[in-house]
Amino acid sequence: MIERKATNITRHEGHVSRAIRETLLGQKGCTIWLTGLPSSGKSTTAFTLEHELVQQGHLAYVLDGDNIRFGLNRNLGFSPNDRAENIRRIGEVALLFADTGVIAITSFISPYREDRDLVRERHNDLGIPFIEVFVDTPLRVCEERDPKGLFKKAREGVIKDFTGIDAPYEKPVVPDLVLKTDHMTPEETAFQIVDFLQSQALLPGAVDRALA
Ligand code: ADX
Repeated sequence: MIERKATNITRHEGHVSRAIRETLLGQKGCTIWLTGLPSSGKSTTAFTLEHELVQQGHLAYVLDGDNIRFGLNRNLGFSPNDRAENIRRIGEVALLFADTGVIAITSFISPYREDRDLVRERHNDLGIPFIEVFVDTPLRVCEERDPKGLFKKAREGVIKDFTGIDAPYEKPVVPDLVLKTDHMTPEETAFQIVDFLQSQALLPGAVDRALA
């Protein structure tokens, strides 16, 4: 846990509870944490899922690794410490989104188990569901896809510390869900997550809306 520098700070409680916000939205706030190798299909799955949920009348929002590194995390690179800070910040942002009742979908390699476990702990502390989804695409398939040409550059030594080549990826030990994207369309993978959310009663408003 990172040390808190500020002293003399006090928590303030609002008058509107998370439960009220969730009733307003007809859903439960939660974080769907996609983790996997580069080019494993995290972003594609995340944005397809966001679209599907919104079409079903649910408020979802994607926090995407590349996108966030243009703004909030623009001062971070790819050293283990920077990656840890990247994941810590996104874990906190996802918590804020989920606390508003939104379904936060994160799409980050998040290669270190410890960093992901810390985010899970923070969610557990606040009673917010954290769903770790392992986008389990073999390295060979990711490297064949290579839409940004980064594996090629990493193999040539132009990019250093590239996950899967010369930087580690630690698979989740007990993920809540495993997606095999090499045998499925983005829609099929997204639907697997929607089914999971329904099985966990995280989309209670969906039935009412479908019947309306
Ligand atoms: S994480 O490891 O800290 O979780 P994150 O998901 O934010 O990574 O960013 C990964 C994206 O950064 C990749 O999709 C890729 O486009 C880009 N990238 C650039 N350099 C690297 C690198 N050395 N390792 C992994 N991804 C990299």
